[in-house]
Amino acid sequence: MKIVDSVSRMSTFTRLLKKEAKTIGFVPTMGYLHEGHLSLVRAAKKHDDTAVMSIFVNPIQFGPKEDFDKYPRDFKRDEELARSAGVDVLFYPSVKDMYPHGYATYVAVEALSSALCGASRPGHFKGVATVVAKLFGIVRPDIAYFGQKDAQQAIIIKKMAEDLHMGVEIKMMPTIREPDGLAISSRNIYLTDDERSDALVLSRSLERAGHLIKHGEKNPKKVLTAINDMIKEKPSVKIDYVSIAGTKDLKEVDTIGSEVLIAIAAYVGRTRLIDNIIIKAALSAIPK
Ligand code: PAJ
Repeated sequence: MKIVDSVSRMSTFTRLLKKEAKTIGFVPTMGYLHEGHLSLVRAAKKHDDTAVMSIFVNPIQFGPKEDFDKYPRDFKRDEELARSAGVDVLFYPSVKDMYPHGYATYVAVEALSSALCGASRPGHFKGVATVVAKLFGIVRPDIAYFGQKDAQQAIIIKKMAEDLHMGVEIKMMPTIREPDGLAISSRNIYLTDDERSDALVLSRSLERAGHLIKHGEKNPKKVLTAINDMIKEKPSVKIDYVSIAGTKDLKEVDTIGSEVLIAIAAYVGRTRLIDNIIIKAALSAIPK
């Protein structure tokens, strides 16, 4: 595994790969790697000649009161995990190299960025779109892999890549979960044992919602009530939002049609967690 810690060296290496006509599969991350990240690497290994992973805790996607300083970092551990998953190139730039003095350019994917998490994290998706656009410029991937765990992020990046003709295919891969259903996240290490157990209500309430829809429920209000009622039973969980939205425009739906994103964000203790499912309605629930 090659470790590249500067933007200019990565750009040079990208040019070499392009000259050799090697396809590049790219997995951008903020590190503290887990099975969710590694599943994306496996997808890249399967489809592309070269798997490139970036590790960069991107300061501009964190709000002033968020956990940028506290965000877990362990490069040695990440290096081992990346190597054993088969990463070919690990790109690990510094903040100074990515945002030198006088840095001035930002990417805003309008409308999609103010829905769902965008409402409670203003500026977050501008920071994400900007860093991913920069990483795409440096790595020039053929395919980039994102997790459904952050479905809104994947949808926004796909729109950005299309709108800006970036020539990269965006693949959204399934959420990897712990055996009991909790979506794996770098932030799960913040949870106490009691919070960890309460946090299970997120995946369980989504499962319940999926079950209701599969059995013909088309009224989003009823499904939202079922989710809210389950979550309210857990004392350490405070809902930020629960939403049933279209997967293309992320707008809340009046009736549950062919495909919807059911997304939850909640504070479990002081830790903000998100989870979602994408559900295709039962055939009987779709008008002929
Ligand atoms: P990070 O949270 O490190 O996640 C990197 C990638 O791993 C994202 O595409 C995310 O959706 C995916 N991922 C995280 N947990 C997952 C899980 N349980 N199952 C499947 N995939 C999972 O998302 C970011 O970093 C940043 O915003 C980034 C895109 C790197 C830009 O800074």
